[in-house]
Parts: sequence; structure tokens; C-alpha cells
Amino acid sequence: FLDKFAVTKNGFLPAEAPLRFLPDPYYAPWEKIVHHLPELLSSGTFHEKVDGLPVLEIDRLANEAEWRRAYVILTFLTHAFVWGGDRARERLPPAISIPLLRVSSRLELPPVATYAALNLWNFSSSNPNMDFTDLGRLESLHTFTGTRDEAWFYLVSVAMEAEGAHIVSSMLEALEAIKSRDYDTIIASLEVLTGSIRKIGALLERMYEGCDPMVFFYQIRPFLAGSKNMAAAGLPKGVFYDEGDGRGSWRQLRGGSNGQSSLIQFLDIVLGVEHASHGNANNANNANDADAPGNNSTKVTAGPGLQKPTEPTFHQQVREYMPGPHRRFLEHVTRLGSIRELSMLPHKTPEQDRLRETYQGAIHALTEFRNKHLQIVTRYIVLPSKRAACNGGKKMEGKVDLASASESCRDSQQLTGTGGTSLMPFLKQTRDETSQAAEWDR
Ligand code: HEM
Ligand code: ALA
Repeated sequence: FLDKFAVTKNGFLPAEAPLRFLPDPYYAPWEKIVHHLPELLSSGTFHEKVDGLPVLEIDRLANEAEWRRAYVILTFLTHAFVWGGDRARERLPPAISIPLLRVSSRLELPPVATYAALNLWNFSSSNPNMDFTDLGRLESLHTFTGTRDEAWFYLVSVAMEAEGAHIVSSMLEALEAIKSRDYDTIIASLEVLTGSIRKIGALLERMYEGCDPMVFFYQIRPFLAGSKNMAAAGLPKGVFYDEGDGRGSWRQLRGGSNGQSSLIQFLDIVLGVEHASHGNANNANNANDADAPGNNSTKVTAGPGLQKPTEPTFHQQVREYMPGPHRRFLEHVTRLGSIRELSMLPHKTPEQDRLRETYQGAIHALTEFRNKHLQIVTRYIVLPSKRAACNGGKKMEGKVDLASASESCRDSQQLTGTGGTSLMPFLKQTRDETSQAAEWDR
């Protein structure tokens, strides 16, 4: 039954590595551009090439894999078009807009570079057994910059998703076991889950091995930006998707972010972790608190006026940025019952005690995972942006001694993630909401 949710033996990754080419030569004009994207961008000839691009029909796409491939190509072209020049471009031409709008509505995704476009559907593997957890043998099909750093940034997530695939079915069994109070099954699944979260965390920490923070911050990250809250970057109204003949529409969409990973939301759901933050970059108590991660003693609660109760949370909003079947899978899992409730009941029997301890161990592992992620965000965004501020916004070339980032420049930045959040306050609240799940009266 997982088929209907597009969940495979590789979890949220496809069962087979994604297509490298659309087989119909009709689509050669797209393939030619996307296969030379880094060169076209660095030589400043990308926009000319797009000017010469015909408006192609999408009815020659024959199956799901081809739809996904078209979506990957067109979203790469979109972000290259908007962010690949010396200024942001706010009108996306019909040759990109028209097919992109059609393909993305078919896939139930927004017409923008999502986690599905950059990560889930943008890799190949040279592992003989097609083991996608083998990070060293993964390749990205496309990047904006042609750097190994950019591919690595995407591929770490691919390996994490593949690692996480193992727990989907065992956690579904655990949820099933709630009804019959089958403690042994639930405990065994939670132990597997804890081990898996640790492995996923270990993969996350391999980010440092292949992706340099300065390359990430200055070369890669600008291409991932969206069109929501991007007035300062030159998109006050968002991006106009021009459909020709005077038709088209303005859209404001979030940029690419691993925050759109269904796997991590799956972990939250099965563990009963609840998130309340909207992540709003504009009205959160913002960006100056780049203190060291690991301090999880403070509870961050939203003050009055910070959040409108009716507005969906960040985690709810980004479900719209997941492929339709994955979004429905998460909704389905939410209805399957609560391991947390069973675990946090007042305890009497030894097996109930064992369940609570095991549950709390899993929550601890997920909290640690989010601490590792906070450290990454500090190294890859907060510190480089401070350096930029302290150097009058000038680009820093080469490696920089991060430890020497000057304290006096602390308050100068109003940071926003490519996914549109206030970064550190948002991520710390998310981390704290994780650890609070292990408290009886969170
Ligand atoms: C959220 C940065 C790697 C998973 C975020 C956010 C930022 C960020 C800034 C806040 C949302 C936004 O506004 O964009 C980074 C950086 C990374 C990195 C700089 C590496 C250089 C990863 C990887 C994963 C991941 C590899 C694994 C799938 C998440 C998740 C969220 C998130 C799940 C949503 C918040 C949560 O549920 O904890 N990330 N990220 N990140 N990121 Fe990352
Ligand atoms: N979401 C990550 C960022 O803000 C990629 O840079």
C-alpha cells in the first residue's frame, strides 16, 4: 500500500535512480542547456540561451519518471534565470513558465526548486548494489556551480533519506502495535529508530568533509533562494511567471530547503513531536542570538503577537513543497495513533517503564540530531554572514578562520534562510520542541 504514497524501498527516494535524460529528442533543447548550466552561468551566456528556447509541449512526457525529470530541469532553469545574473530577474519567460507550471501542477509541487528537485530526484549512484547510503559513490545530476561542494550538499541528504528508509516499515508496525499494547514490538522498533537517527546524524556531520562553508555561503546558497520575502534582493513582488499573450501571475514562493524533507517530518510524527513556530523571518525575535548550540535548557515560547494562531506553522506550510503522495503519507501516519501517549502514561509495570525509557532515548537522539544541524547552520551561514558584515559586505575569497569572526559585528545581520525562516530562533525553537516531547507536561 506504500506504492500509492510513492514510498519505496528507498523511503522517499525513488526505487531507481532518477532519469539522466528525457528519451524523446524533442526535449533536446532543455537537456542541452541544463547539461551545461555551470559553464553557461559562469560565462554569462545563460540568459541568451534561454531567449532562444522554444516553448515546448509537455504531452510527450510518458511517465512519472519523465515528469520528475522535466520538473528537475525546469526548476534548475528557473533559479538560474532568476539568480544567475548580476541582478535578480523578476520575469520568468514563457519557455520556462509554461511547461514548468504544467509539470509542477501534475506533480502537486510548487513551480520552484524544492527538496524534491534538488535532492530526491537529482542523483545517480555508481554503487554496484544501488545502495544510496554510499555517499562516496553518489553524484548529483545537476548543479548551478559545477562544484563538488554543491553536489555534496545535495547528496548528504540523499544518503540520509536512503538510511532513513529502513525505519519506515518498522515504525508503521510499531504504530499498528499500539492497539494491542504490544510493548515488545514498539520497544524493538524504537530501538531501531534510535540507531537510525544516530546514523542519519553521522551522515549529516559528513557535510564538513565535502562542502566548504565559504563555497556554500557565497556560491551555492544564492541560487537556492526563493521569491518570498525577497524584496531586499530585488523581488518586491516575487517572480512573474509569464505565460505569454499578456497572461501570467506573480508568485512568492519559498526557496529550496532541506526543511522540506518528508523523512524528518516522519520522525517527528511517529515520535509525537509537535512544532508551533511559523519561522517568520519578519516578526520573530530575530537573528542576533547566534549562541553555541547544545544549550537546550531554555524553552522558547512565542510571545503574544508573534504568531497568528490561524496561520499554519512552518512544518505545515512546507508540506505543500513535498510531492503530493508524500504529503498524503504524512497525513495518513498522523492518524495512526500516538506512541508518545502510550510511553508517557503514568507507569506501573516494568515493560511500561522500559517503553518510556526507550521512547525518551529516541527523543534524545532526535534532539541531538537537531543540535548537529544547528552547529552546521552556525558554520555555514551565521559565521560567514558575520564576516561579510564585518568586511563591509565584501566577498571573502578562500578559506576564512571562522573562529576569529568578530563579536562586534554581531547585531548587524537580519538573517533569513532560503526556506524563508528566521534561522537560529526558528531552529532552536524546533530543537526545544523536540526535547520537550520527553516531558510529561510539555
Ligand atoms: C531547516 C540550513 C543541511 C534538514 C533549515 C533552515 C536552515 C537550514 C537555514 C531553516 C529553514 C530555512 O529558512 O531555510 C542548512 C544548512 C545546511 C543544511 C546551511 C548544510 C550546509 C541540512 C540537511 C538536512 C537538513 C543535510 C537533512 C535532511 C533540515 C530540516 C529543517 C531544516 C528538517 C527544518 C527544521 C527542522 O525540522 O528541524 N536548514 N541545512 N538540513 N533543515 Fe537544514
Ligand atoms: N536552507 C538553507 C539555507 O538557508 C539551505 O541556506
